[in-house]
Amino acid sequence: MEKLEQLYEGKAKKVFATDDPNVVLVDYKDDATAFNGLKKGTIVGKGVINNRVTNFLMQMLEKNGIPTHYIEEISDRETLVKKVTIVPLEVIVRNIAAGSLSKRLGLPEGTKLGQTVIEYCYKDDELGDPMVNEYHIAAMNWVSKQNLDLIAKYALKVNELLSAFLKQSNIELIDFKLEFGITNDGELVLADEISPDTCRFWDSTTHEKLDKDRFRRDLGGVEDAYQEILKRLMGE
Ligand code: TMP
Repeated sequence: MEKLEQLYEGKAKKVFATDDPNVVLVDYKDDATAFNGLKKGTIVGKGVINNRVTNFLMQMLEKNGIPTHYIEEISDRETLVKKVTIVPLEVIVRNIAAGSLSKRLGLPEGTKLGQTVIEYCYKDDELGDPMVNEYHIAAMNWVSKQNLDLIAKYALKVNELLSAFLKQSNIELIDFKLEFGITNDGELVLADEISPDTCRFWDSTTHEKLDKDRFRRDLGGVEDAYQEILKRLMGE
């Protein structure tokens, strides 16, 4: 497959066309941002780790019945995925209170939630990705009711599969963000990435943070945390 022109550059990845109209190439960068791009930095080796961790987890999910955009890893930082139209929603799943939920509801970080919580944010950097509900999504026609129901079903299933999988590596899945897309064939699939950039991973025993919160909050040991996740999941 040939790498053709760049279609898009995001904060953490670039997307290139290929000679197949149904396939694009994702190229992971080491750039890190937080607070909607206000904080900028580099996490050395992040692109390689996020590429490998995402692909590893996407394959595990696909085997367990979640359709994903994943096709093939072609280098340390590059992966072929199905070309999709991204549903303009960040789908957040929470098991334990942390981050913006803790702030919003005044809950100490680490408070166990009575049940899993799903939140939707409208993907718009200028607006700061505002939280929206099912009524806003229907009113704005961002995705069909049928696909939104499927998104919620997949998000909960991903949570069950990922939580159980990570537990074996002594990692607690606090919360995470998913994105979905619609292929040229009209199929709804899990897209984007699943990595320490997009999930909160805590050591199950010590509750040490092993994710991007180390960068967001200047906790130090950022690269080591990403490396530790790769090692625990893939033994490297
Ligand atoms: P939050 O507590 O800041 O709302 O974040 C919830 C989860 O979503 C957390 O695992 C980090 C992830 N996330 C992203 O992947 N991208 C973002 O832009 C934000 C704000 C959060």
